[in-house]
Parts: sequence; structure tokens; C-alpha cells
Amino acid sequence: MTLEEKILKGHKRQVWLANILAKVGYNTPIGKLLRLWVYYADGIVILRHWRDFLSIRQKNIGDQYLAVDQAIMHSSYSQVRELMHGEPQIRGNDLGIIRILAPSYLLNNPLSLGTNGEEHTGVRALFIQALPNPLEVCDFLGALVNECLMVAVQKGELHVGNDLPAMMIQILHQVVFDITLTDEEVEASRKFIKSLPLASLPNFISEKVIFPLTAPIIKHRQKLIQKYQRSPKWFSYLETGFSHGLNEHQIANSLFDMIHIAGTAGTSALLGSVIGVLCLDNGLRSNVIAEIDRVWDGNDPLQSVNIAQLTLVYQVILETARLYPPVRFVSQLAPDRGEINLGTSKCPFQKGTRLLGSIFTANRDPRKYDNPDDFDITRDLSDILSWNGSGHERACPGRDLSIGIIQIFCLYLFKKYRWDSITEVKWDFEKVTAVTPNNLVLQGFSCK
Ligand code: HEM
Repeated sequence: MTLEEKILKGHKRQVWLANILAKVGYNTPIGKLLRLWVYYADGIVILRHWRDFLSIRQKNIGDQYLAVDQAIMHSSYSQVRELMHGEPQIRGNDLGIIRILAPSYLLNNPLSLGTNGEEHTGVRALFIQALPNPLEVCDFLGALVNECLMVAVQKGELHVGNDLPAMMIQILHQVVFDITLTDEEVEASRKFIKSLPLASLPNFISEKVIFPLTAPIIKHRQKLIQKYQRSPKWFSYLETGFSHGLNEHQIANSLFDMIHIAGTAGTSALLGSVIGVLCLDNGLRSNVIAEIDRVWDGNDPLQSVNIAQLTLVYQVILETARLYPPVRFVSQLAPDRGEINLGTSKCPFQKGTRLLGSIFTANRDPRKYDNPDDFDITRDLSDILSWNGSGHERACPGRDLSIGIIQIFCLYLFKKYRWDSITEVKWDFEKVTAVTPNNLVLQGFSCK
């Protein structure tokens, strides 16, 4: 069977199941079991062929189709935007297409993405307090970035897939908690992030069957959360959290997830892609270096005005986020049952069905962007979806900080450092790892 046949056969199975679920119930034990079966069946294909999976279903079925656990995938720009901006949204404990089926992996605290109502308002208040405006702390961020790059100098290389997540873990812990992690803690945090798909296995498997794999990771989370409570900023977070009815466990765990899942994974992937884009395009890199030289002499303390003048770098970051969005899917739940159009036929769906938005395909929708697969910094990117749109309660609270960190990273990288050669710049569009050139290495990395 070809890959295309397999992907389309999987969709026929989804349609068949939709009609069965209408009879046996969506959330009954049998309904849940059947959904789990299609979730893993589609999941195995997505793990190895995520981009083909999306494009084959979209081309053959339409902008909306069923996927994973009977979710309705929305793939066009206009559909995804509408989905993102709808308020209020009902959320389940899902991370894009990944369903968190082993809450023990997250110490039984839901992701902020999976909270609703006052609980969600509370964790958002915490995030807004924890994430500074990068323009107000740019010199501090610059010192942190520089410290990380000096570590790469000692190693003589900067490895995108290994070093950037480690740097981001360290930077975000400094920014949010004013604490430094040991090398062992950073490594354990990286393992936590890399092993996140394990949280999608049923709880008893995570807790009992693959215990040797998950136990050290969970233990690290417990220990790090205790360390947070010794941070000089801890009491101010408690104050905010308590005022919204959150307890200490919720406060510490939500901040842990903010740093590790949303902050580190997203920002290091985007930073890696920006470095990849600039390594590949000599002309663009020269223009970026010229802009950096214009705005900062490399000696004076960094000021907000230096960052505000990095307009080309800003546009490069946005266009890179469009082509290589670090977060590829957003997820919410249908408030009511209904019917979806699948080409010429209709198919029932139930209340609570997941509504997925595919940011990757929305960002490359030819009805929104001309020549969507081309890198073009002249585009109007004011309504880009990569940070979950803007101006609504579920938009990414780390947008400005992540862009600011990447701008500052570019400033330091090109102003103060050099490298002799690079390895191949390649984005993996098959294995469902982060969309970033993970294997890119800047070799012979040293100070200028
Ligand atoms: C400093 C770095 C970052 C931090 C601290 C951060 C933090 C967060 C947090 C806490 C949420 C959950 C908000 C909620 O539950 O209401 C979130 C959502 C989101 N973030 Fe970020 N983020 C960062 C960087 C990024 C980057 C670089 C991207 C992509 C370019 C991104 C894209 C998104 C998206 C798409 C969502 C919505 C997910 C959903 O609703 O399912 N974030 N971010």
C-alpha cells in the first residue's frame, strides 16, 4: 500500500467511526476506546510523515477532515484564524495534536492550555507577571545570551538541536525565577522536553510499564519545582496565584510548563530556524549584519532603542515563524454536536470533539500568501498566526519576549562571534520533531 493509500484509508476509518460514535456515544467507555484506537493509528503515520499526512488529507478531502482521535482538522488560513479568535474557548488537556493521557508525567497538573474559566485567568495572570517586556530588560537578556554563547566558545561549536534548548532553559529560569540551573538540571530538563510524547501514553503505561524511563524525568520535575520555591520571586507569584484561587502546586507546575514546553521548545526551535535561514542566504545575512552594525557598536549597554531599530531582523523572525512554525497545531473542544462537510458528504460529530487548527498549512495557504513556500521578507505579516494570532485570551503570552530574545541572540551572534564552517542546513518535514534544522552545527565557534 502506498503512503497516500494508507493515509486515505485511515480517513475512511475515521468516517466509519464517526457514525458508530453517534450511536454508542462519544464519551462512553466503548466510545473512548474506539477513539484511542484511531488516535494511535493516525498518530503512528503522523510521527513519521506529518507533512504528507496533512497535505494528502487536505488535497483529497478538503480544508476540513478528521484526524487523530476523531478531531476535526482545520487547515486553511481563514479557518484557523477564526478558530483561534473564537471566545470563549473550551479546552481539554491537549498539546496541539498530542493528548495528555498520562497526567502523572506532569505531576497531575493540567497544562495551562487545558484549563478553562477562572483557573485559566489565574495562570494567565501569572504568565503576564513572569514574562518581562524584553525592551525593558534588554541589557540583562544580552548578558545572559552572551554567557551562553561563551559556553559554546569553550566547546568550539554551536549545535542547534542540542545547545539552543539548553541555553533557553537557562535563560528563562534566570528571567522568571532569578535562579541558575546546574548542568545536570539543564540536561534533565532537556530530557523532560524531548520525552513529552510519553505523556500521550495511557497513565498506567507511563507509571508502571515504562517506569524506568519516566521516573527519573518526573523526579527531576519534582525537584526543580522545590527549587522554584526558594526563588526570590516565589512569594510574588504566590500572591498573584492565591488571589486567583490557585494553590502552590498549580502555581509552580504552570510556571514549569511555561518555561519548558511553551518557552524553551518554541523559542529554541524558532531561533534554530532563524540561524538556518541566515546561514543559507548570504545576501540576507550580509544585510542583517549591516543592520546590526548600524544599531549597536557592541560596547555600550544594550538599550531598547537598539532593539527597536532591528526592523530587518524582526521581519526575518516573523517570516521564519511563518514558514517554520514551532507550534504546528492548536486545539480546542466543540461546544455542541453537529455535522461537518467532507467534500460532497456529511459526517456527524459530537459535543466535546476536538477542533484542531493546523498552523503549518494555514501559514502556507496560497489564498493568503503569494508563493507561500518562498521566503519573502516583504510580506505583510501583521496578522501572522504562528503565536496563536493576537488580541484574544488564548494568544501566546510569550510572543514579545521570544522575539526579543531572538533579536538579542542575533545581535550578539553576529557582532561578537565567528565560526569557520557550518554543517548541512536541513529541516525535517517527515519525523514529527520540532521544525528546526536540528543537526546544524556552527563549527570552529569562537569570539571575534
Ligand atoms: C519566551 C518564550 C515563550 C513563552 C514563555 C511562551 C509561553 C506560552 C504560554 C504560557 C502559552 C499558553 C497560554 C495559555 O494557556 O493561555 C503559550 C501559547 C502559545 N504559544 Fe507561546 N511562548 C513562547 C514562545 C513561543 C513561540 C516562539 C511560539 C511560536 C512562534 C509560540 C506559540 C504559541 C502558540 C501557537 C500558543 C497557543 C497554543 C494553544 O492555544 O494551543 N510561543 N505560549
